[in-house]
Amino acid sequence: MPKGSMWVVEDKKQKHVFWPNAQMKKRAWANSEKIYAEAEKDRAAFWEKKAKEGLHWFKPWSKAYEENAPYFKWFVGGEINISYNCLDRHLPAKKDKVAILWEPEPTAEKGRAITYGQLHEEVNKLANALRSLGIKKGDRVSIYLPMVPEVMAAMLACSRIGAIHNVVFSAFSGEALKARVEDSEAKVIITCDGYWRRGKEINLKEQSDIAAAMPCVQKQIVVKRLGNKVNMQGGRDYWYHELLAKEKPNCEPERMESNETLFLLYTSGTTGKPKGIIHDTGGYLTQAYWTTLWDFDLHDGDIYWCTADIGWVTGHTYACYGPLAVGATQLIYEGSPDFPDWGRIWGIIEKYKVSVFYTAPTAIRMWKKMGDDWVKKHGLGTLRLLATVGEPIDEEAWMWYFNTIGGGRCPVIDTWWQTETGGTLINALPGIGPFIPTVAGRVFPGAKADIFDDRGKPVEAEDTGFLVFKPPFPPGLLRGIWNNDEKYVETYWSEYGKNIYFTSDGAKWFDKENIRVTGRVDDVMKVAGHRLSSAEVEDAITLHSDVVESAVVPMPDEIKGQVPVVFAVLKPHAKACPECEQSIIQHVGKQIGPTARPAKVYFVDALPKTRSGKIMRRFLRGMLANEKLGDATTLQNPEVVEHLKQIVGYKAPQ
Ligand code: PRX
Repeated sequence: MPKGSMWVVEDKKQKHVFWPNAQMKKRAWANSEKIYAEAEKDRAAFWEKKAKEGLHWFKPWSKAYEENAPYFKWFVGGEINISYNCLDRHLPAKKDKVAILWEPEPTAEKGRAITYGQLHEEVNKLANALRSLGIKKGDRVSIYLPMVPEVMAAMLACSRIGAIHNVVFSAFSGEALKARVEDSEAKVIITCDGYWRRGKEINLKEQSDIAAAMPCVQKQIVVKRLGNKVNMQGGRDYWYHELLAKEKPNCEPERMESNETLFLLYTSGTTGKPKGIIHDTGGYLTQAYWTTLWDFDLHDGDIYWCTADIGWVTGHTYACYGPLAVGATQLIYEGSPDFPDWGRIWGIIEKYKVSVFYTAPTAIRMWKKMGDDWVKKHGLGTLRLLATVGEPIDEEAWMWYFNTIGGGRCPVIDTWWQTETGGTLINALPGIGPFIPTVAGRVFPGAKADIFDDRGKPVEAEDTGFLVFKPPFPPGLLRGIWNNDEKYVETYWSEYGKNIYFTSDGAKWFDKENIRVTGRVDDVMKVAGHRLSSAEVEDAITLHSDVVESAVVPMPDEIKGQVPVVFAVLKPHAKACPECEQSIIQHVGKQIGPTARPAKVYFVDALPKTRSGKIMRRFLRGMLANEKLGDATTLQNPEVVEHLKQIVGYKAPQ
């Protein structure tokens, strides 16, 4: 480790506790304990000050925070526009500063550098085009695009006119898109002809057309990315570039009341149907702005790269709104990390001189497995800050990231948050620290977390409990579930009453300030950082003609963290065979997308059930992880447990 870059404290409980050195402290936006103390004194006042300081408001709010649990509002009556904050206000000083650096997957193809001025023009034209197509404030627009600059332009154009966007991960199937389009009643889909993935052309338009056939969809806008042949339906489908060519480069931004909806993002809950998480405008951007600035400590001259796909919340907040709101230069990459080989990511960092890099533990574990030789081929000396998100990071992966990628110079910021929280809520700040492997860190200033036992009492120091947040709720926190208020109340505001936000995560205190998050406590798994619910996969399997019923549970995986495994009961006509297993795996891939494909299917005669007929996934999960299993005597069919143990090769812990 280079001398003097960071110093290490040996701690009794943990081998490594890192602190920022003087140089890091000096350059950081947030570098004083006072920030925490000040925010703690009056959290609503803290956010109020930050909203004023960081953002441009057309009209000030009349009240900073209003709560009628479990509903709350931030900056009531304040008027703001997101695209104005991400673009227009930067123009005087940063018109020619690069906003987006785009690296296409094919190495022979030239990338693009788009300035704030150019992005502003594109967004304004697209916003005008949307208005010309009849889209108004409050209408829903589905965006089904890969990592191309147009995806950001589309999001910003929607926000400019107050249309509610719903970005759908481009690797999701047309069926998955259709379900989201249907639930949100989207009038327009913005997609592309296709894109490159691992050297192959993916025809996205074909998938998008499945959803475009829904009666609610009036228009489809198609970005020409590949130039491959696609069918354009007259009167419904329009080329993006042709629409833009007709429009003026100025579009009056809609003045949005702070609490009006900016976007919906569907995520997995404990039931089969994905939930449309609602995010508001002013509160969301306030949290996006300050967490981006303080967590990643972005300054002029930084090249920032968040590898998350735009289809996930990390892409929304930290590969679009956050970096643009702070006026940073950010990089986006279209393709796969292993194309043409495992050196691609390090080559991109070297080529663009990336200084701040944000990725997921699953990717780090994969790169570590692929070997340091790929890394050593490239100069990573420009890196100065590393960050992770999406799942707990193990110590080995943390240390490899810190030493091999960061050269022992860069703090590793482990950010805990959720689709629902809109922005990060637990992490170390780079100028304050400490950075502790496997410990996410401190609660972001202005938020109040606790760890409760199952009766709602704060846990003792050494105990694991459930992570919760207390009022005033962070400004970026969700405002509801689209079309399902009951689910909103039940999922987040019922476990401990209506004024405690329940995260569904287990956690424990590392010390009085720092929190270690242990993972989900519900039937939601994290597969390579992607959120997937057991019920969602089970619902998809129900549609398979050979299956009577199934249970889907996570199995620990060295690289992906967890992978879904299926226990299936077949119909009498069906045969348990490798072909049937493959057919179920392919079927799930088609219904949801490749990320949901089960790693294994066990064919069983029966599933363990409670007396009331509920499948005991807990048993199956414990068996796959070789954990201690609970009492099986309360089951309706305890005899199946022994049989299941045999087929999975369960080994009880010593
Ligand atoms: O279990 C937590 C885990 O990811 C869940 C949220 O997933 P999603 O909504 O897809 O958002 C991921 C990106 C913000 C959480 O409930 N999680 C996320 N970050 C961490 C984490 N677990 C441990 N440490 C983290 N840093």
